[in-house]
Amino acid sequence: MIAMQEDKAAPARQLDHRYDGVAKVTGRAKYAAEFPVKNVAYAYIVQADIPGGEVASIDQGAASRAAGVYAILTPFNAPKLGPVGNVNVLQDTTVYYSGQPIAVVVARSLPEARQAAKQLRIRYNKKPAKIGFEKNLADARPPGRGGVQRRGDPAASLAKAAVVLDQVYNTPIEVHNPMEPHATLATWDGDKLHVYDATQGISGVKGNLARAFNIPQDNVHVECPYTGGGFGCKGYVWSHTILAAMAAKVAGRPVKLVLGREQMFGPVGARPNTRQHIKLAAAKDGKLLLQQHESICYTSFIQDWVEGAANPTTLLYDSESLQVEHKVVPLNLGMGTWMRAPGESTGSFGLEVAMDELAEKLNMDPVQLRIVNNAEKDPRQGRPWSSKHVVECYKQAADRFGWSKRSAQPGQHREGEWLVGHGMATANYGAGRSPSSAIVRILPNGRVYAGIGTQDIGTGTYTILAQAAAQALNMDPSLVDVQLGDTSLPRSGGSGGSTTAASVCPAVYDAAIAAKQKLAELAVADPHSPFHGANANDLDTRDGQLYLRSTMASAGADPESITALIARNGGNAIEAEATSKMPEDRDTFTSHSWGAVFVEVAVHAHTHMVLVRRAVATYDIGNLINKKTGTNQLSGGIVWGIGMALHEEAVIDSVYGRTVNENFAEYHVPVNADVHEIDVTCLNIPDYKFNPLGARGIGEIGITGVAAAISNAIYNATGKRVRDLPITLDKLMQA
Ligand code: MOS
Repeated sequence: MIAMQEDKAAPARQLDHRYDGVAKVTGRAKYAAEFPVKNVAYAYIVQADIPGGEVASIDQGAASRAAGVYAILTPFNAPKLGPVGNVNVLQDTTVYYSGQPIAVVVARSLPEARQAAKQLRIRYNKKPAKIGFEKNLADARPPGRGGVQRRGDPAASLAKAAVVLDQVYNTPIEVHNPMEPHATLATWDGDKLHVYDATQGISGVKGNLARAFNIPQDNVHVECPYTGGGFGCKGYVWSHTILAAMAAKVAGRPVKLVLGREQMFGPVGARPNTRQHIKLAAAKDGKLLLQQHESICYTSFIQDWVEGAANPTTLLYDSESLQVEHKVVPLNLGMGTWMRAPGESTGSFGLEVAMDELAEKLNMDPVQLRIVNNAEKDPRQGRPWSSKHVVECYKQAADRFGWSKRSAQPGQHREGEWLVGHGMATANYGAGRSPSSAIVRILPNGRVYAGIGTQDIGTGTYTILAQAAAQALNMDPSLVDVQLGDTSLPRSGGSGGSTTAASVCPAVYDAAIAAKQKLAELAVADPHSPFHGANANDLDTRDGQLYLRSTMASAGADPESITALIARNGGNAIEAEATSKMPEDRDTFTSHSWGAVFVEVAVHAHTHMVLVRRAVATYDIGNLINKKTGTNQLSGGIVWGIGMALHEEAVIDSVYGRTVNENFAEYHVPVNADVHEIDVTCLNIPDYKFNPLGARGIGEIGITGVAAAISNAIYNATGKRVRDLPITLDKLMQA
């Protein structure tokens, strides 16, 4: 290998614009449902309107005769599929929740499909349904996987404590709602299937479709050049993707299936609610003796899915003893799934408000309490961190925020009719990566092509991959063309779990290094090259030229132009593939990302309206690969944290089990008027133990801690502690 100094890559030249920005704002970027396909039919999913039971019969007579109808699929006539995972694709008549897909109408147009759907005569055998979390709390049980984690002797630690905090914190069901709804466009050609799918993982879609339709993986081609937001819900292969392919097969023509906004509430996952019982016991100096965190969430009857809210407590702070535990309450609702920082965002609400309450009981500054309990090693098994600088995050963010001017006593700061308060919390999220493959071509025209079977969900993957190739070749990243979102490209991982950048960048980087090696070997073997007979390992590239590294500094050393070398040798692109390797010592350390978020709120004294006037956050996320896309990810997470703190909640009807507010008018998310100053900085300390780019993923950490910091700031402003999200006016009024 050449040009890799001790596995540490030189900092990349950054693209100062989004690679895909122009394509998106001009409408040139095409999303799954927008591809022109001839003779396309439109599918509409019919949803169950009972919360539990069975579909007894579906009379499709009138619907079949309706204008434009090509096919109607029901549990009574749908083709039998292979393994499909935990999704409802008309393989049986069971109804697990209101909103579950129970039929699909395929027609010439979407209005005709919807019209025909209304003419289906559906009869059910209703069964008693479990609706309402509080009402069914007695059903709480350990989930199928994962149980109690314990360390030390909780009872003994508790007995020693000077101060004990014992509270319950609640977070509601939240629904992802990316701008682009889920969409699939499926076309069969014999036993070959092509789909455009809005997804966070083209390889997962490909595998699931191959298994469902019992065809070889090579017969399935998935494309997704752009995804209009994912946040976790597009990381799972849900019913509609398989139903679109099934409908295309039965109707004998391409089928487009786009979920309506209301269909995004239930059939494509949600963040389960949590009820978190937290007990913290500390010594007088603030040292945590015991952390106890039990989190109960709803789960569906389809599959146990756990919102792991208590998991971050196992590593966020050090404590003599610990006990964390998860339980589930099965309800007649759609499945839970990953939503941005699953576990960390909910868990950091509970734990970080509890820490604020503990600090007050100890009469200690909340930042100081966190510093005192900083875990120098991973408390779970004592491994060192690959890189951890959370204390610098507290200090830098506190400084930028002006924390020293805060009054510890609540309700002290009034500006006219506004009560002003300050609060903070720790942010954290895991750092993972997975093996990934990529292909890089050094082109005869001087440009470079990078292809990789991942996708960009709006986070900046295109941008940072252009940089990764450019970094390996020491060139301008604007001369790199990136292709993603196509399963014919080398296989790569999903866009999730904050793993993408750390996984895909090394793959493209390694492939570019391999292509550079081939280029060097070409020069060495070419009698017309100035480097004929040189050692290929001594050659390097910079800005389109090949040069001998030992003579780089000396004047008069002639470089050779890469385009001339390629032209002389047949004019073909120099191509190489690589698969990034995981570090061999990866089991000897823990990689984790950290941050500190400080918030200023103003609460109206009479209306109780809350303004998040200022959020200041500093993150320790390793190298920040691209300032624009990276800080945008982090501040986007903070915006979502504002939504989590103040707005978001899926309200479930207590009789019918359906989400009442399944639209954007009633399911509130932050708008511009809710978002004021956001100040994001990164320490930018590379983590080379984690990967050669020194960069950890950043897609999720931004949301963590924010809801707690806001709740803590509201308490500081008003003296009112609201432990149930979202913190709405009525709760503040009653507190
Ligand atoms: Mo994420 S919740 O890994 O898209």
